[in-house]
Amino acid sequence: MIEVQELTVSTDGKRILRQVNLQIAQGETVVLFGPNGCGKTSLLKAIMGGAEYRVESGSIRFKGKDITGLPMDERARLGIGLAFQRPPAVRGVRLGDLLRICGEKSGGFTAEAIPGLARKLNLDDFLEREINLGFSGGEIKRSELLQLMGQNPSFIMLDEPDSGVDLVNIHLVGQAINDLLGKEQVAAKREKAGLIVTHSGYILDYVNADRAYVMLDGTLYCSGNPRDLLEDIRTKGYEGCVQCRG
Ligand SMILES: Nc1ncnc2c1ncn2[C@@H]1O[C@H](COP(=O)(O)OP(=O)(O)OP(=O)(O)O)[C@@H](O)[C@H]1O
Ligand SMILES: [Mg+2]
Repeated sequence: MIEVQELTVSTDGKRILRQVNLQIAQGETVVLFGPNGCGKTSLLKAIMGGAEYRVESGSIRFKGKDITGLPMDERARLGIGLAFQRPPAVRGVRLGDLLRICGEKSGGFTAEAIPGLARKLNLDDFLEREINLGFSGGEIKRSELLQLMGQNPSFIMLDEPDSGVDLVNIHLVGQAINDLLGKEQVAAKREKAGLIVTHSGYILDYVNADRAYVMLDGTLYCSGNPRDLLEDIRTKGYEGCVQCRG
């Protein structure tokens, strides 16, 4: 579904991604680990088409189409979605209105279905509020997921969906992610794929992932079983990754 080849990206004159290679097939869920500042968010935003990220070399293909030069809105229309780590608040636009517009444009759901969607993420009382304005950390994470449910992308990127979410709501977040990824279907029939950034790995208690990568200093360093890699990082730190490969 997504194929990143030798991607080198800079922002503000600083090179932040170096020759990243990543392939994710339809039906797969992939996890990305890495220390603060290594480039995880930058990779997700570069795939989404953030204008501040300049592709110096390499390419990004989505469902076989080269999207390297496409603006963000066109990538979103093609079916790429991102739940931001730290999204902006959108003054003057109510969460419920955005969902209503998403439903009308996509034909995927009616206005009557919106309260039910919000309930899935314990956001019943948030539909009249301006998007993310004054939301708590955990509320923002759930609001981002709700917006993705409205967009219903086929390639779903989640930047730390578990960070700051309480122990009761994390269950709802996990369920929503499984819904978004079509996890109720067998992998061969699933039309979605996902890329999830997590530090703690809490989300792995709820969402099954096929493979994980470790990013260090702007490049993908190694891959493996998500649980095994997480355990290695916990016990040996990211230093352990360097020694392991060295
Ligand atoms: N617009 C920018 N201008 C300058 N530096 C930037 C910009 N955007 C990102 N960076 C730098 O690029 C590096 C990678 O940042 P990024 O946000 O991708 O890290 P991350 O792996 O997501 O970290 P975290 O785990 O803390 O979220 C950091 O050193 C960051 O300061
Ligand atoms: Mg980040």
